[in-house]
Amino acid sequence: MTTALITGATAGIGAAFARRLAAGGTSQSGGVGGGHNLVLVARDTERLRRQATELHDLHGIEAEVLTADLATDEGIEAVEKRLGDRQHPIDLLVNNAGFGNKGRFLDVSMADELTMLKVHCEAVLRLTSAAVTGMRERGRGGVVNVSSVAAFVPRGTYGASKAWVVQFTQGAARDLTGTGVRLMALCPGFTRTEFHDRAGMGTDNIPNWMWLDADKLVTAALADLARGKTVSVPDPRYKALMSAVKLTPRGLLGGLTSKTGRKYGPQ
Ligand SMILES: NC(=O)c1ccc[n+]([C@@H]2O[C@H](COP(=O)([O-])OP(=O)(O)OC[C@H]3O[C@@H](n4cnc5c(N)ncnc54)[C@H](OP(=O)(O)O)[C@@H]3O)[C@@H](O)[C@H]2O)c1
Repeated sequence: MTTALITGATAGIGAAFARRLAAGGTSQSGGVGGGHNLVLVARDTERLRRQATELHDLHGIEAEVLTADLATDEGIEAVEKRLGDRQHPIDLLVNNAGFGNKGRFLDVSMADELTMLKVHCEAVLRLTSAAVTGMRERGRGGVVNVSSVAAFVPRGTYGASKAWVVQFTQGAARDLTGTGVRLMALCPGFTRTEFHDRAGMGTDNIPNWMWLDADKLVTAALADLARGKTVSVPDPRYKALMSAVKLTPRGLLGGLTSKTGRKYGPQ
């Protein structure tokens, strides 16, 4: 049985990856295969343990708990160590942990901005490197780096960090061509998770049609990985929007996109 390691596995998109990979099931295009054993990573140990027990009882898979704060060197090192364990190899890494800061540029403290870069960029770089080293030796494996459609529009430091994820993943995927290792940047649009509540962002100016379901998103993302895509925007609505974005002047784009979903509660 293969093993997947998911960061930010306890909520939202990461929890949807855990459910989908534990359940397994093969589709013509999806290629998820049988249920995966899992290594679940996040900061909340109790929640991780409950989730591991639930997935084990439901699907008969082994679910390991790894408590780690990816905003710290110790947390990143603990996950690097697990990814480098040759006795218990990881076949699929999902770099999903992430968050939004409350406020616009200059409203957010430099410490919080740097924490975002640590979790969204440094952890993704280090964990991808740790995982891919063994995958390349074994001649197979996959990495999904969760970015955002915010990577393609001028959308504060959050969008900038997610743009790094897309560029990094595309470049690394190219360098690893022919090794049997697949890398893909996943770019979701607005998805119903704990993300906006945690960041204290209001969501009432986001139209209903823009919301995605995390489980459907993950099924489509894994199908894109199986097809060998290096960037996945796994929804027809956002595919159409991103095509329009490519044709829109950057200046106009900034005005149109910077307000949607960036209504912050009291500081
Ligand atoms: N929801 C959206 O609309 C949306 C759209 C595009 C992209 N995304 C991206 O999707 C990814 C998942 O977000 P989500 O919407 O599923 O958010 P979520 O529901 O808030 O879940 C975030 C997960 O990340 C973990 N996490 C946060 N900070 C961490 C840290 N320092 N170390 C380790 N784990 C940490 C959380 O668990 P603990 O608190 O226990 O650590 C939780 O499991 C993020 O990268 C986000 O940027 C989200």
